[in-house]
Amino acid sequence: MFTNVWYVAERSVNLGADPIKVRMLGCDFVLFRDKNGKAACLSNVCPHRGANLAGGKCRDDGTVACPYHGWRFDRSGTCVRIPAQMEPHDIAEPAKVDAYPVLEQNGLIWVFLGDEPELASPPFEIPEVGDTRYRQIDFNETWNCSFERAVEIDLDYVHSHFVHGAFGEEHRARPLDHVVENYSEHGFGSHLIAKPQPNRGLWRLLRKKGKGVPSYLNFKLPGFCRRVQVFIGGEGSKMNFVFYHFATPIDDEHVFNRLLFFRGFMTHRFFDKTNIKRNERAIREDRKICEEIYPKAAAVGRNWEVQTEHDHLVGAFHSILHTMRDKGWQIDARAAQDLARDNKPLMIPSPARRTISTGWVFPEMPRIAPRAVVQSRAAE
Ligand code: FES
Ligand SMILES: [Fe+2]
Repeated sequence: MFTNVWYVAERSVNLGADPIKVRMLGCDFVLFRDKNGKAACLSNVCPHRGANLAGGKCRDDGTVACPYHGWRFDRSGTCVRIPAQMEPHDIAEPAKVDAYPVLEQNGLIWVFLGDEPELASPPFEIPEVGDTRYRQIDFNETWNCSFERAVEIDLDYVHSHFVHGAFGEEHRARPLDHVVENYSEHGFGSHLIAKPQPNRGLWRLLRKKGKGVPSYLNFKLPGFCRRVQVFIGGEGSKMNFVFYHFATPIDDEHVFNRLLFFRGFMTHRFFDKTNIKRNERAIREDRKICEEIYPKAAAVGRNWEVQTEHDHLVGAFHSILHTMRDKGWQIDARAAQDLARDNKPLMIPSPARRTISTGWVFPEMPRIAPRAVVQSRAAE
């Protein structure tokens, strides 16, 4: 799992007047709204006696109050009130928790988990939200697999034939040529004209016979998101659907999937039921494959998988992960397990840890050393 990434932590509609707990990167966080209604995110472990801050209450002064002894923390993570002490200056210096940058837009609450926000790929807009040409349907689901597995399956054109198709007519499984486009450390794209399935039922009216189906795919690092747009009516048609699939790692073996479907045709709610049924079937099929892959957690840098010419999008995704690992942003899972034996919670380092090095009650989550450091150590 990786730090210094903007993740989708929650949907806006789910964060109301009470704080809520969200688990990401193997740690618990509390989301709450301050007195201006702005979303905030702190580490969830109270530095007094470890209580669950998300079990507390939002107060009028814009703080979240711990449910155990009422210590209040503002959105910067500072403890601003200890009710059992008379004077604010009695507050102990270590009474602070990690606070993380938050951005709320298009109905999503993004949280930056890391200490170098200026180096990260920023969250992006979702222009289809609120666009009346589309009908939006949302879907959430936890899968028992690593986030890498959930990302990989969307970057894999060949799986569609076997996982979502009839498995027959194998000659149809070979996707037309496509390349990785606009690759950078922030993401990449690809597109192809898919071979259409034979037109059946309503599709006889909607798609011209024999027309290829243009499909555009983008991987975006923020939110580990895949955006797919398919011009379902065939070449030359404007009829399309779009989906966004955000993968938020819960821990090494679980991922929270948030999908936003935008249907740009048959937008009346009357058609929702059939559309949802089709989408849910595809998600179920992907989930079964991903949850049964061995090993559950993909190791960045693994080299035993046999790669083919059609695995280059998955390869591009892994290149981005390699770059992040080389920057020192990957969590060191083995070291974290060793430290967890001391029963001390580990925190995803927040930006404040880079300027204030003292007073943190809990240690940082260990990360794999940046590549340059590893090399210089090897040279010693
Ligand atoms: S444990 Fe949170 S105030 Fe005591
Ligand atoms: Fe799929």
